[in-house]
Amino acid sequence: MNITSNKSLLDVDQLSEVHIQSIMNEADKLSNDNIASTKKYTSGKSVLTLFYENSTRTRTSFELAAKKLGADVINISLGSSSVKKGESLLNTVKTLEAMQFDLIIVRHSDAGAPYFISRNIDIPVINAGDGLHAHPTQTLLDIYTIQKKLGTLKNKKISIIGDILHSRVARSNILGFSKLGANVYINSPKTLSLFKNKFFEKKNSRINFVEDIDHAIENADVIMPLRIQLERQEQGNIPSLREYSKYWGINEEKIKIAKNNVMIMHPGPVNEGVEISSGLVHGDKSQINLQVEHGLYIRMAIIKTILSEAK
Ligand code: CP
Repeated sequence: MNITSNKSLLDVDQLSEVHIQSIMNEADKLSNDNIASTKKYTSGKSVLTLFYENSTRTRTSFELAAKKLGADVINISLGSSSVKKGESLLNTVKTLEAMQFDLIIVRHSDAGAPYFISRNIDIPVINAGDGLHAHPTQTLLDIYTIQKKLGTLKNKKISIIGDILHSRVARSNILGFSKLGANVYINSPKTLSLFKNKFFEKKNSRINFVEDIDHAIENADVIMPLRIQLERQEQGNIPSLREYSKYWGINEEKIKIAKNNVMIMHPGPVNEGVEISSGLVHGDKSQINLQVEHGLYIRMAIIKTILSEAK
């Protein structure tokens, strides 16, 4: 299964349903394999994680995934790279290409940076999050988590609520969930909406931007509140965190109109008590830790697939 012609994973729009299902099946197999077996899959390969933005889950999960597959892993972050000395992104990645890595996993604050890198070097690239644009491995692990719990995404009501404007997770999830037949509902403060939402609505009639939060929550199978991204906020988008939390914070009271077995998901990092109550983060409907666990299997599956295709 070729993920793409240049064997990189840049966003979910390049993946067909068959590709996605194949990654899910591979993740299933890997989650049942013992470590002695998984260590053989990419032994002798070298993987670079190049993170120009902060990360806890994604970077650690990629590193652990590559190590469990037997690869050698080198981590470079913004603070430890020669970017601090003025080196350009192009010169940095050309230097790293000369060291003959087999795979580069990149997170960057600029949308499109992983595309730029993959066009300029002859090594597969995985997008681990680029600016406001995309976070495909988050979407794949979210799909895996929903499939494990509900069997399918088809005709399920999945509601994404909060700071959509600054969320690359929202953009990739809207594309991925609707591709698999979910009815996706999106609700946010007007100032934190996707102004160009016509792009999504034209793509798929299963994508619904709604103004009333109850419309999003009512009978939902999955609710995914999003963190307010304070690091990307322009002045005046919200009056205060308290007001945001009052109207868009998801809590036990607000979800009473959702399905009884509603799944509460969150890509992390969580601002407990702002976009989601502590009770929901740690309650029995929360899938947040399961998402993190599944991220490991999904990233193993993606690394194994890309490195075996690149042989
Ligand atoms: N969900 C996510 O991308 O988390 P990190 O920023 O911790 O990697």
